Amino acid sequence: MLDVILVGFMGTGKTTVGEVLAANFKRPQIDLDDEIIASAGKSIKQIFADAGETAFRQLETQVLQQAFAKSGILSTGGGVVESAANRQLLQTTTIPVIYLQTEPAAIFTRLKGDDGRPLVQQLGESGLRELWQRRAPLYQSVATHTVTTDARTPEEVSQQIQQLIGQ
Ligand code: S3P
Repeated sequence: MLDVILVGFMGTGKTTVGEVLAANFKRPQIDLDDEIIASAGKSIKQIFADAGETAFRQLETQVLQQAFAKSGILSTGGGVVESAANRQLLQTTTIPVIYLQTEPAAIFTRLKGDDGRPLVQQLGESGLRELWQRRAPLYQSVATHTVTTDARTPEEVSQQIQQLIGQ
């Protein structure tokens, strides 16, 4: 069974915090983006380029459903909340879902010039800000807990998550 699921916008530290939690819990980390890459046999950038975002989202939903049969800490991709089916899955599970919330300004500094995330290239800063605004309530709608990650280390964030979920 999964121990915890991390959701949040790109650049909020889901993968890094997931690594720390996995080490602390002595459990595997499952990174949804890595699972998608393994399943498609190509990078996310290449999936977007070859098949488009809609195809990427379909693959993301399949891989999310498969991840529920696994054990460990699940770090999702920032767009996992775009699909109503994904949201329903996250809303109805008994596994804690943690929203890593970071202010847009900090996110844009981290993401600037990122070549591996197609949406950063496509949208630019103002488009990303709109996307952040639109998605913020979606993350809230699936989360059992919200943790702010601004100006805090992954270790501090992980400690807070462990306290919240009683581990
Ligand atoms: C996306 C976030 C990315 C990756 C893809 C799309 C999004 O994951 O799944 O580039 O729509 O926000 P990270 O949040 O791990 O960067």
